[in-house]
Amino acid sequence: KPIVLSGCQPSGQLSIGNYIGALRQWVSMQDSHDCRFMLVDLHAITVRQDPQELRTATLDGLALYLACGLDPKRSVVFVQSHVPEHAQLAWVLNCYTQMGELNRMTQFKDKSERHASNINAGLFSYPALMAADILLYQANQVPVGNDQKQHLELSRDIATRFNNLYGDVFQVPDPFIPEVGARVMSLQEPTKKMSKSDENPNNFIGLLEDPKKITKKIKRAVTDSDEQARIYFDPEEKAGVSNLLSILSCATGRPIADLVPEYEGKMYGHLKGDVAEAVVTMLEPIQRDYQELRNDRDLLNGIMKQGAEQASALAAKTLARVYDVIGLVPRP
Ligand code: TYM
Repeated sequence: KPIVLSGCQPSGQLSIGNYIGALRQWVSMQDSHDCRFMLVDLHAITVRQDPQELRTATLDGLALYLACGLDPKRSVVFVQSHVPEHAQLAWVLNCYTQMGELNRMTQFKDKSERHASNINAGLFSYPALMAADILLYQANQVPVGNDQKQHLELSRDIATRFNNLYGDVFQVPDPFIPEVGARVMSLQEPTKKMSKSDENPNNFIGLLEDPKKITKKIKRAVTDSDEQARIYFDPEEKAGVSNLLSILSCATGRPIADLVPEYEGKMYGHLKGDVAEAVVTMLEPIQRDYQELRNDRDLLNGIMKQGAEQASALAAKTLARVYDVIGLVPRP
């Protein structure tokens, strides 16, 4: 089976963007692929975190992974910082990554604008840690949303460069990006992506939000002031409406092309009502299972322990190989 690896940052509440763009894909790959899924707490600290909030968000994130359908019996589910090989390989890969490459990362540019008072070296070299995450497990496929595409390209470049120097040490990973839903947009500003760390809560929908609040947010979503409020898919001209259609398509599993004709002659309010209902229905089973899982600390601990052991065993092999080929003397 092909090997899959992916992860999500435990910062803030996961949004329907994370679910539609990534997590949902992960759940569906568990039988056909050898999967490893993590919460990337070491990535989260590239921006300042409140320690108690980070701890809570990591446990919340784990419970949410399970509620969404990740199954520790079939997949390796773990917390990044529990597997020290990630930080170890990241250091090595930092030495095989050029400043110029990191400088081109659009996420670094965005984030350093948003966190201008804390442009730290970790934020800059973040893609080398992400490459380590992927390459440690010899992943063939990395299911992510569109915003991670550039980081993944860099992971491929780093792997190829390393292999050219030392032989076939790393599998060169392919991105796996869904056709619809790879970029769920902000509800109020539909030309930018929905982000769980957005300071305006009306821009995103959290997976655990109250159905009434979700409905209100969707009803308030920005559409446009097109005089004849027509409903069709055109992300350039009709960003808000197209975003709603994409969300509806993902939540119902129906292609956009089938949905559009049903809205002929109908108002935006009609579409919004349907989107709200579909999103609430999609989230219902997740919300139902979450609370029980979150309160079962023994269960979460057991899963973290098992996941860390399984992941470490896999990661240690790659790390040992890397240390060897670059000339580090093994510890006797
Ligand atoms: P993060 O935590 O920002 O997001 C987790 C996943 O959700 C996807 N995503 C979206 N998809 C569609 N629409 C959106 N609005 C949206 N917002 C987020 C992201 O593309 C991502 O797949 N650097 C990564 C985490 C990471 C990782 C890795 C991923 C660390 N190491 C190794 C894959 C492999 C990140 O910050 O994702």
